[in-house]
Amino acid sequence: MTPTVDFSGLQITYDERVLEPRRWTADQSRWAAELMSLAPPGPVLELCCGAGHIGLLATALTAADTRRHLVAVDLNPAAVTLSTANAAAAGLDDWVEVRGGDMSEVLSDREVFSVIIADPPWVATEQTTRYPEDPLLAIDGGPDGLAVARLCARVMQEHLHRDGVAVLQLGDLDQVDALDLTAYCLEVTEVRAGERGVLASLRRLGPDARPA
Ligand SMILES: C[S@@+](CC[C@H](N)C(=O)[O-])C[C@H]1O[C@@H](n2cnc3c(N)ncnc32)[C@H](O)[C@@H]1O
Repeated sequence: MTPTVDFSGLQITYDERVLEPRRWTADQSRWAAELMSLAPPGPVLELCCGAGHIGLLATALTAADTRRHLVAVDLNPAAVTLSTANAAAAGLDDWVEVRGGDMSEVLSDREVFSVIIADPPWVATEQTTRYPEDPLLAIDGGPDGLAVARLCARVMQEHLHRDGVAVLQLGDLDQVDALDLTAYCLEVTEVRAGERGVLASLRRLGPDARPA
């Protein structure tokens, strides 16, 4: 039988092709939902959605009158199938569009998002053997663990609303520093420790603070 996890009230189906939903990541959903209630009008983008639970819970938590459309993206076709099914099971399919492919290729130039949620793989390639139960695509962040996080930062630079906000999940504070978000015209506004990672809220740097 396909495994299902209760993710703060949402029934999320997953399988061995994606990362098993980690319960603590509901903190990212809750934080995103808070920010969604304050952000300028516009849709939400979720990068690296896996089984879809983080963005789906954030969407479910926002009241029907403030609910925003969610575009959820993942490179793994299995993640697309599972996220689509999980959105339908949660009764949120009218609010959610799942796109399959590399995040650098599935957005049109003109798309702008008020809130961006991102949960990239962040394990350095040589460390991935420590997690044999996890699919490589879900955890392998390249030589320094930040290759996909850099893609996320680039997407945020290009698609985050001028007054929008992003919530990025990484392994630890050192990774947040190493990502050098100012190079993407972004700044960290708050970092929260999670059970097995950190969450950072980001916004655009003001025009005066942007690198030349
Ligand atoms: C750490 S997992 C997170 C999945 C999910 N958010 C969760 O909590 O289980 C990272 C996800 O990023 C996806 N991914 C990796 N590279 C990607 C890329 N270039 N574009 C889009 N998705 C990518 C993987 O397929 C995987 O589902």
